[in-house]
Amino acid sequence: MTQKSIVVIGAGVAGLTTALLLSRVPGYKIIVAAKHMPGDYDIEYASPWAGANYMPVSLGGTNAAEWDKVTWKVLHQLALEKPEAGIHFQDCEIRNRTKDIGSATADWFSELLSSAPWFKDVVPNCLGNGVTFKRATFNHISETSAGIHPSGTVDLVVNCTGLMASRLGGVEDKLVVPARGQIVIVRNESDRMVNVSGTDHGDEEACYVMTRAAGGGTVLGGSYQKGNWESQPDPSLAVRIMKRAVEACPELTGGKGIEALDVVRHGVGLRPVRHGGTRVERERLGDLWVVHNYGAGGAGYQSSYGCAEDAVNLIRHALEPQAKL
Ligand SMILES: Cc1cc2nc3c(=O)[nH]c(=O)nc-3n(C[C@H](O)[C@H](O)[C@H](O)COP(=O)(O)OP(=O)(O)OC[C@H]3O[C@@H](n4cnc5c(N)ncnc54)[C@H](O)[C@@H]3O)c2cc1C
Ligand SMILES: *[C@@H]1O[C@H](CO)[C@@H](O)[C@H](O)[C@H]1NC(C)=O
Ligand SMILES: *[C@@H]1O[C@H](CO)[C@@H](O)[C@H](O)[C@H]1NC(C)=O
Ligand SMILES: *[C@@H]1O[C@H](CO)[C@@H](O)[C@H](O)[C@H]1NC(C)=O
Ligand SMILES: *[C@@H]1O[C@H](CO)[C@@H](O)[C@H](O)[C@H]1NC(C)=O
Repeated sequence: MTQKSIVVIGAGVAGLTTALLLSRVPGYKIIVAAKHMPGDYDIEYASPWAGANYMPVSLGGTNAAEWDKVTWKVLHQLALEKPEAGIHFQDCEIRNRTKDIGSATADWFSELLSSAPWFKDVVPNCLGNGVTFKRATFNHISETSAGIHPSGTVDLVVNCTGLMASRLGGVEDKLVVPARGQIVIVRNESDRMVNVSGTDHGDEEACYVMTRAAGGGTVLGGSYQKGNWESQPDPSLAVRIMKRAVEACPELTGGKGIEALDVVRHGVGLRPVRHGGTRVERERLGDLWVVHNYGAGGAGYQSSYGCAEDAVNLIRHALEPQAKL
């Protein structure tokens, strides 16, 4: 079998997980090309801002539920066997307020899913498996053919561009919109993860607390502001986030107020929400195969392995049509 050259665009949790699973298929030479790489913090890059917890509330019988189910198996095993992955189990407290039923926040919380902290820890083997990484910014899909792959050819492009899919030339997807999430990372810790169904500050605000494994700090959230591209933290919202978190989890500051919180940073990320759900699809563009894996909204970690497995199956069907897979 001749070696196939694959370009994965995007180094968020979707691109990295897809590249990891692809690297296990013999005969594929993979390059991950992206504007932002692990370690970067940017408003165009969602993955560094996620909690990232696993709270599956996807509806049974849907693709989303299948993706979450597949992902749980892998994350569960990593949590048990690979402490270096930085994934841990935590008791989770769900606070369901009657007055929030049917509110927008309660609705989006049913999507605040997933588990697996830093993508770079979740996919520790990409480099070891012979995947190449390269920083590159694409303005148009046609640019991917121009010598980006070390082999000099491209057989297939995997599209894991997240929110920026809505802006990249060639196939702009207007179904993809940002849902802005503002957070505060603190050094103070809590043994439990808390998720409240709503706040008293409108539909776009939320209250959740999750302590990451392996010294990753505690994420205090948050917000779910659809269509909002603002990259700078709103200071008043930050105060409300901290107040609500300390109220929900007094152990964070031993009963003292928010002044006793030890803040690491304030942050803003944009969830790549796609109306109609994540797009995992195969498409023929001219003489090039493209497999899409983008638009996971607030569930990119929780669904990561499930979506990546489906993407890999589509890729194999495109590149090895005769093979029995
Ligand atoms: C505050 C917040 C909390 C969250 N909490 C959770 C949680 O608890 N659990 C959970 O499962 N999910 C959570 N999410 C959602 C999760 O973060 C996203 O679903 C996930 O990170 C999306 O990953 P991605 O790989 O699709 O996109 P991204 O991480 O945005 O990566 C996109 C990649 O594509 C590259 N790219 C895009 N366009 C181009 C271009 N034109 N040229 C070159 N490169 C390009 C970028 O540089 C980047 O490398 C949260 C999100 C936020 C903002
Ligand atoms: C929240 O509580 C209401 C009743 O107060 C109930 O109808 C609803 O099913 C509950 N939701 C969850 C997710 O428990
Ligand atoms: C990725 O998909 C999005 C949405 O369809 C589109 O805007 C973008 O051009 C695609 N990129 C590639 C390389 O196909
Ligand atoms: C988190 O809270 C929301 C809103 O009440 C709820 O729909 C969701 O089921 C909760 N998560 C879990 C895992 O129960
Ligand atoms: C908050 O966390 C910091 C760092 O762990 C700690 O020094 C401080 O005592 C904590 N504050 C409270 C009130 O527990």
